[in-house]
Amino acid sequence: MNQNKKLEDEIKFKELLKDPLRLFGWIFPYFFIILLLFGIYYVGNLSNISFNEQIVSAPDTTNIKKEIPLKKGGTMPAVDLELVKNPTPDFIAKGKELFNANCKSCHGDSGMGDGPAAAMLNPKPRNFHAVDGWTNGRNVDQMYKTLQEGITKNGMAAYEYLPKLDRFEIISYIRTFAQFPPVGDDQLINLDMNYQVSQSATVPSTIPVTLAQTKLEEENSVQNMKYLQFQLLVNSTQASRGAEVVKNYSINLKKVFTSYSRLGVNKNIDNYVSVVMTNPINAGFKPAVVQLSKEDWKILFDYLKSSIL
Ligand code: HEC
Repeated sequence: MNQNKKLEDEIKFKELLKDPLRLFGWIFPYFFIILLLFGIYYVGNLSNISFNEQIVSAPDTTNIKKEIPLKKGGTMPAVDLELVKNPTPDFIAKGKELFNANCKSCHGDSGMGDGPAAAMLNPKPRNFHAVDGWTNGRNVDQMYKTLQEGITKNGMAAYEYLPKLDRFEIISYIRTFAQFPPVGDDQLINLDMNYQVSQSATVPSTIPVTLAQTKLEEENSVQNMKYLQFQLLVNSTQASRGAEVVKNYSINLKKVFTSYSRLGVNKNIDNYVSVVMTNPINAGFKPAVVQLSKEDWKILFDYLKSSIL
């Protein structure tokens, strides 16, 4: 055995402390094992440690339907342009009501552009107290243009469905928030030229899309029920003379049903016969139906009348 390599049978810590590098040599294996265990633990629990578990709950903006309000059509009254120039307190009060109902959510209670819906918008809704930075402008005709066309690229919707008068009432109310340029005749002329505001206009009735859908579905299912009843009647064993005529001459019972139903309020025998005669196949009958006697036509018609409700 080599004399120089003397085995230490006891750790002499005092000696070790004199040479810290040697001390590290002693603790290194423990250090390494601890690090290794920690590493194994870390990698084993990686899925819990590193993933951001915040739930993203942004609304699905592709699924938002814009609903048209249910509205009875009629005539939009012409606007008395004198009122736009010198609005009465009544005129402004109505404007305030309309503003609160339609605009407040974005433009804020007092038109500062700080409504609850404004937070999500960029650019922000117009602060009506500010003089600068307007896209269309602060004149009456420019504000009217904004309401007619919207500034849709910036999140300001068009309000062309609001009656003209309502729009002027709102504008008059907005004009009370701050000092606005006076309403000059040139602006009024401009308004009338571009938007015919002093003429009355007719607007069609509108119905919300979803309501229209359910109405259609209801109608369809009612029609289907009626058709099934009719079908049962025609094919019942105690069929009447009328049912015999229908069976002998029809080729498509559903078409017989719809062609009769479509007559609507014009359900009289002459109308019905002329509809079937012009195109028997379309009405669900064999062409031979044109040879029916007057008496048989009456039986056929009376039968449909009594069995299709
Ligand atoms: C969905 C939020 C929202 C609603 C509701 C809304 N606005 Fe706006 N409005 C905006 C935004 C955003 C702008 C800024 C557009 C821009 O900078 O071009 C704006 C701008 C305007 C402007 C200034 C246009 C200009 O020339 O810069 C007017 C006037 C206006 N709105 C009027 C109204 C009126 C009146 C109503 C209610 C009938 C209304 N807004 C409802 C978001 C809204």
